[in-house]
Amino acid sequence: MAMSAKFYWIPTFFTSALLLSSSTFAESADKFELGKQKAKVCMTCHGENGISTLDPYPNLRGQKYGYLVSALKDYKARDRTSGLAILMQQQAENLSDQDMEDIAYYYSNLGKDSNK
Ligand code: HEC
Repeated sequence: MAMSAKFYWIPTFFTSALLLSSSTFAESADKFELGKQKAKVCMTCHGENGISTLDPYPNLRGQKYGYLVSALKDYKARDRTSGLAILMQQQAENLSDQDMEDIAYYYSNLGKDSNK
């Protein structure tokens, strides 16, 4: 009895570990795609792949998540005003906190692993 309980426990453990990791993967892939959809409007200036083609427009590809969120919040609050910040204030105005997080997730993961 004790033997068979042990025998069944092992495959069950591995199967559920596998299911857990694949659903986590699907979740992060979905989050990446959602951020990408929301970032379409940003690509005009920051480039299709997060690398801009014009000098005054910064690259966003691979930027830190926390930095992206705080930069966007600062633009929205008009705390960031130098240079061409006015262009970004207008962009950030339309974004909710959730949008900022989704977009920041996308750009911070862009270029990592197999994300193009
Ligand atoms: C009209 C062109 C334009 C569009 C569209 C645009 N940006 Fe920008 N973005 C800029 C410019 C110009 C700057 C530099 C502003 C400055 O001098 O502070 C900038 C700066 C930023 C920064 C700060 C980067 C850093 O290194 O400090 C972030 C983050 C950012 N943009 C995110 C976005 C996101 C997200 C979107 C889409 C919702 C977006 N931008 C759409 C032009 C644009």
